Amino acid sequence: MRHLFLIAVAIILASQLTIASAKASGAEQVYKFYCAQCHGLTGKGDGPNVTKDFPVSPRNFTNAAEMNKLSDADMRNVIMDGGPSASKSPMMPPWGKTLTDAEVNGLIKHLRTLCQCKGKQG
Ligand code: HEC
Repeated sequence: MRHLFLIAVAIILASQLTIASAKASGAEQVYKFYCAQCHGLTGKGDGPNVTKDFPVSPRNFTNAAEMNKLSDADMRNVIMDGGPSASKSPMMPPWGKTLTDAEVNGLIKHLRTLCQCKGKQG
């Protein structure tokens, strides 16, 4: 019995550890999973999906000058509703049905770390 109890404690501790580490790197994981195939792991717009027939280049998130033209609200809008909602290419898919609000907030923060810019205010 005592043995089983210890195993149970170990399992609970282990699962809490994984929850904690998933939170710490949450936004980066979400980015890698959903965005990096087009925007690239480091955000340069050079993901493996982008072949020479790709009609538009995915935004380069490390370009601070371009990224500063977007407010956080602009980013949220294009992430939730896709390129066409901001008169951009439909090659940028809508994510509103896939991602939670918290995940989108995390992504916006992550993109701001990639561009090292604050974006258009207001
Ligand atoms: C299938 C490829 C693809 C995927 C996957 C993708 N994007 Fe894009 N994204 C694009 C393209 C292409 C553009 C540029 C559209 C244009 O300039 O017309 C773009 C543009 C953007 C822009 C800039 C819009 C602007 O107004 O300049 C943001 C922000 C963005 N994507 C965020 C994301 C995020 C966050 C994810 C992951 C949840 C993601 N994208 C996943 C292709 C993709």
